[in-house]
Amino acid sequence: MIQDITRFSFPTIVVFGPGAIQQLPECLSEAGIKKPLLVTDPGLKQTEAYSKVTKALKGANIEFGVFAGVHPNPLDEDVENSAKIYQSEGCDGVIGLGGGSALDTAKVVAVRAKHEQPLSDFEAQAGGYKLITNQLPPIIAIPTTAGTGSEVGRGAVITVPSLGRKVLIFSPMLMPTRTIVDPELTVSLPPFLTAATGMDAFTHNLESLTAPIFHPICDAIAVGGIELVWKYLERAVTDGTDIEARGNMMIAAMMGAIAFQKDLGATHSLAHPLSSEFNLHHGLANAVCLPAVMRFNRDAALEQYTRVASIMGIDVRDMSQTEAADKAAEETAALNKRIGLPSQLRDCKVPEDALPGLSKKAFEDSCHLTNPRTCTQEDLLRLYQESW
Ligand SMILES: [Fe+2]
Repeated sequence: MIQDITRFSFPTIVVFGPGAIQQLPECLSEAGIKKPLLVTDPGLKQTEAYSKVTKALKGANIEFGVFAGVHPNPLDEDVENSAKIYQSEGCDGVIGLGGGSALDTAKVVAVRAKHEQPLSDFEAQAGGYKLITNQLPPIIAIPTTAGTGSEVGRGAVITVPSLGRKVLIFSPMLMPTRTIVDPELTVSLPPFLTAATGMDAFTHNLESLTAPIFHPICDAIAVGGIELVWKYLERAVTDGTDIEARGNMMIAAMMGAIAFQKDLGATHSLAHPLSSEFNLHHGLANAVCLPAVMRFNRDAALEQYTRVASIMGIDVRDMSQTEAADKAAEETAALNKRIGLPSQLRDCKVPEDALPGLSKKAFEDSCHLTNPRTCTQEDLLRLYQESW
């Protein structure tokens, strides 16, 4: 299944398969890009994935600009600095290469290329998508992790230090024109990042499934994504060269991002301030907080968690739904352990006295509004404390 390069769309056009990166020149031509700006991060510039991309471009005599300074939690200055190169090099499209940070930055560079307002004006919650009116240059997304699913998403998250928080920018125009999903680009991703990004994908699928919004199509996709993570994440962490596991994790990540158009839940509200305040990896922050949130949500998502328990291989036939849901939370914590992630926030350099301040920020984050159980700020503090 994971041997050939194939194309599918849902609705992003995805070029998928080992070696798919060879089709980059074709994708640029289809998108009408003559000179792309390649947006990536400093770590990735040293990797084989970067060499493969630049080799594909040079092999087709395609000139390109480069910005390789994206921060792990991308900053507004990353967008502004990329945009300067975009203009000075006379680029006409962007390639995002990397994890969610590089992909999100590339998307917002496309916004910046055609709009002059401060980035915070585009914030989704304040209706900023209405300001994204000019046709954006085409965006090519090339993920090198299997986590955020930003490659098929219409949103981008950028940290604006002057506001002290992350800003979500959303527009249908942010959907990449082409996405190249090549599992060979992820083989050098170290076990920790494979595990943390994989748990982000898991959390997307799980929180989408339990979000109390009627969307049976997204629910079915989320169930499929959970199945793939459960089957392949541990394999991808154990053996980074397992292309079947890598490819299926990339599919699971895309499924998570498609499913979460339903919205997310409290885990993401808890995770966002942990990244902006303590630079905790987003996937790790989700992984650590998720078991406590599942226990908190138990009675509000019995049916979904029972289904998840069954996917996890638990024989739920002689169990009550409550027992099955408890088991699903336990198994999630056990998976974290098996893939080498810390189980508590105290092991992630988050001081206990920061939890009240974090809970205030988590409450301001909108993700918990679609949590299956309503959350107060005190609930979020208790969830942090339980996860600490
Ligand atoms: Fe996430």
